[in-house]
Amino acid sequence: MDIRISPSILSADFSDLGSAVEKLGRCGADMIHIDVMDGHFVPNITIGAPVVKALRHCTDLDFDVHLMISDPLYYAEDFAKAGADMITFHPESPAPVKETIDRIRSLGCRVGLSIKPKSSVDILLPYLDMIDLVLVMTVEPGFGGQKFMAGMLPKIKELRKLRPDMDISVDGGIDADTAPLALEAGANILVSGSYLFRQEDMSGAIMRLKGKDI
Ligand code: DX5
Ligand code: ZN
Repeated sequence: MDIRISPSILSADFSDLGSAVEKLGRCGADMIHIDVMDGHFVPNITIGAPVVKALRHCTDLDFDVHLMISDPLYYAEDFAKAGADMITFHPESPAPVKETIDRIRSLGCRVGLSIKPKSSVDILLPYLDMIDLVLVMTVEPGFGGQKFMAGMLPKIKELRKLRPDMDISVDGGIDADTAPLALEAGANILVSGSYLFRQEDMSGAIMRLKGKDI
């Protein structure tokens, strides 16, 4: 499977997000990861649908929207209308999972499910045939810049065995050292925030995450 990089703009300069998104496009990002937090499902508040809508004018890249919120069923429509291409939510939220998957699909978006570090792959099993992507969290959701949890790698392996053709994305602590571990386990999409936004040579860093020598 092709390896794709989805930079998280959580680590970008929030006073100039439009430029950050444009730059990611020029530097070879495959999509843009947008971390939406509601201060309830996770202890942080970040980006809402109006910001996603404003950024939609800055790039043609797909928006990979990661909803870390308690009511994805209600808010999915706002994000779809704002320009999301993929909407990923957490089955650990109180929302009815099947109904939320159907709602996102009916809004014309691809659907992902994400699991927190403490959740096992089992909670995904009833839904694996209904979704396009699983996002495996390798940090506790809520903040960028945390340390990669290598203990999550077996979950990626298990998922890859269950669905050889499905997109498996890894989110949290991805850098030049941890990316090969995630890819080796079977991931094909890497989300990376603090590592990428620390680099002077963003294009080179994106290539390095893909495992290409530059
Ligand atoms: C954490 C977010 C991540 C985060 C990744 O809750 O879901 O997308 O921005 O940031 P880094 O790459 O810094 O771990
Ligand atoms: Zn994320």
